[in-house]
Amino acid sequence: MKKPRALVTGGAGFLGSHLCDALLGEGYFVLAVDNLLTGRLANIEHLRNDSRFELQQFDINQPFDFGNVDYVFHFACPASPVDYTAHGIATLKVGSLGTFHALDAALKYGAKYFVSSTSECYGDPMEHPQKETYWGNVNPIGPRSVYDESKRFTEAVTMAYHRYHQLDTRIVRIFNTYGPRMQLNDGRVIPNFMKQALRGEDLTVYGDGSQTRSFCYVTDEIEGFLRLAKSAEHFPVNIGNPTEFTILECAQRVLAVTGSKSKIVREPLPPDDPKQRRPDITKARTLLGWEPKIDLETGLRFSLDYFRRAALV
Ligand SMILES: NC(=O)c1ccc[n+]([C@@H]2O[C@H](COP(=O)([O-])OP(=O)(O)OC[C@H]3O[C@@H](n4cnc5c(N)ncnc54)[C@H](O)[C@@H]3O)[C@@H](O)[C@H]2O)c1
Repeated sequence: MKKPRALVTGGAGFLGSHLCDALLGEGYFVLAVDNLLTGRLANIEHLRNDSRFELQQFDINQPFDFGNVDYVFHFACPASPVDYTAHGIATLKVGSLGTFHALDAALKYGAKYFVSSTSECYGDPMEHPQKETYWGNVNPIGPRSVYDESKRFTEAVTMAYHRYHQLDTRIVRIFNTYGPRMQLNDGRVIPNFMKQALRGEDLTVYGDGSQTRSFCYVTDEIEGFLRLAKSAEHFPVNIGNPTEFTILECAQRVLAVTGSKSKIVREPLPPDDPKQRRPDITKARTLLGWEPKIDLETGLRFSLDYFRRAALV
């Protein structure tokens, strides 16, 4: 039987590259399409000699046709605050133009389509934890809006292709995910703390550190994607770890796992920084039989080698 072919936009990024690995494991031929704006060839270096894997270095804000595909996974988008702040317009473009082009590729070949959305769609939430039915509290003109509104538009256009063109679509709302291949300097909590701890620098906590986040280890997250991809659900599904930590607790876990003697220091909270963020994963549990298995301390230990190598370069 002919093997299915998946196209992964953003396939050289953190999550995209792990997804490529997982899809190869599921028996797909995989075509990664990435312009390397925030991704790195190092993330897919191990696949270079795999005949079932191909990379197209390409900006998906331009229309594309790379031949027949069975599944389009649209993961291209700067994702960390540092990246989307540096590339604000590119972030809005890939969420709009890039999303149209990814949807059109799926439509042309009658492929299924899966898009990575985000918990940022909920903004600074007034409802806690966040269910998929919550519409969010987003500042449309704040500094984070280049990302938040880009992703909200991505969801809107995806639902429109489903409704108007009967495209077989999936939307995952990803909550903070961490693990090997994250960029060290992307401003996200875990790489930041890991880098600071492993270099013996002070750990920077913004505000009083009582704001909460939940962190999902990357292999748990990818397993959630695969289950959603195989399901028939068209409305968004939260995939993330519901165990909530304050930023201060997270800093303490990082110090424990790395054995670092670094101190924790405080800096002012950036504008629009959400105070609480935790997924309600009832839908993923009931619909997909999915829940995360790896707790924060274990995930940090699994990631330690990678961060140590990255931090000491
Ligand atoms: N990592 C998380 O915790 C998280 C949380 C919520 C949502 N997400 C979503 O998951 C997806 C992947 O995030 P990530 O953490 O892997 O980020 P990443 O920056 O590592 O990966 C994004 C990839 O997209 C590529 N890209 C960006 N613009 C492009 C364009 N115009 N054409 C082609 N390629 C382009 C980048 O080069 C990069 O390889 C994003 O859509 C992001 O919004 C991630």
